[in-house]
Amino acid sequence: MYNENSKTGDKRTPRFNWKAKAFIQNFIAMFPKSMSYELYFQMQRHFGGYKKPYDPLGHFETGVDLIKKIQKYGYDTDEKVFFEVGTGRVPLLPIAFWLCGAGKTITVDLNPYVRKELIEDALFVVNKEKNEIKSIFGNLLNEDRFELLLDYAKSKKINKEDILQLCEIEYIAPGDASKTKLKDNSVDYHISHTVYEHIPLNIIKDILKEGNRIITRDGLFINYIDYRDHFAQMDKSISVINFLQYNDKDWDKYAGNRYMYMNRARHDEFMELFEKVGHDFMEIEPDVDEDIQEMLNRGGAEIMIDKKFEKKSNEILSITGSWFVTKQTI
Ligand SMILES: C[S@@+](CC[C@H](N)C(=O)[O-])C[C@H]1O[C@@H](n2cnc3c(N)ncnc32)[C@H](O)[C@@H]1O
Repeated sequence: MYNENSKTGDKRTPRFNWKAKAFIQNFIAMFPKSMSYELYFQMQRHFGGYKKPYDPLGHFETGVDLIKKIQKYGYDTDEKVFFEVGTGRVPLLPIAFWLCGAGKTITVDLNPYVRKELIEDALFVVNKEKNEIKSIFGNLLNEDRFELLLDYAKSKKINKEDILQLCEIEYIAPGDASKTKLKDNSVDYHISHTVYEHIPLNIIKDILKEGNRIITRDGLFINYIDYRDHFAQMDKSISVINFLQYNDKDWDKYAGNRYMYMNRARHDEFMELFEKVGHDFMEIEPDVDEDIQEMLNRGGAEIMIDKKFEKKSNEILSITGSWFVTKQTI
């Protein structure tokens, strides 16, 4: 699993050759599952984006942005049920929703990646950066809940179960978001953050169809998808579209493992996918990288694009991520 720093922070190590990282990931992925998970986490903890103390603030900002996107359309978030695809290492978005007054969040992950050490780090930072957190949440912050979280953050015995219970989070892992056991029309908001770039498109389609079943009639889907080559996060010598130079077979040799799989689908393909599952767009907020666009317009040897992506416009290729707010067509 790749550690996202969300859009808000750049913690790239100055330079670590991406092919060396790919080699290590492929090697670690060959071990039996539980040993492999532990080795990979230790690698991330000592050399990657989960170094001590892990900072939750970027994800809190994302959680608040997401709540604002919902409220912007006149939808209520108080006591509503959220469903998150792909929890990752720490359930920070569910904690942010709870701090904003949401009801329960059901968060599902194919892999049981949540780590106690990172929850401890996050709560340490919560306690230390109270004022910063208050300013991130602004008037969305439920003060009583924040006090409860601060009290818990001071406790000596932090554990996963308590924090999940306190913040009304149901964590299902291993669990598959394309096959939930939830009732029809039982969730209000179906969300994901930096997840769909890591799942094959046919499976995302199944997840969204299952979402259509479990969401209430006027529920919303809110997703942020990061289209960047994630190796560029730690290797500054490559661009965020470096991976578009490879055909599928070659790319699979580098990143075809459980930790770094990236579907490399571009903005137009995700638009099509949402249309195919019967969604209307309420908001699309693409991030355009002007430097990449300029480089593509200039052409030349500095940028290579495989045949697979050749027919795409430079405008599409320079979109590096996007928010999507969608709704089932009635
Ligand atoms: C990049 S990580 C999650 C990042 C996290 N949302 C964040 O904001 O930090 C992607 C996660 O999606 C999970 N995942 C992949 N396929 C899934 C599926 N079908 N159902 C649920 N989770 C899935 C992976 O196990 C992984 O933990």
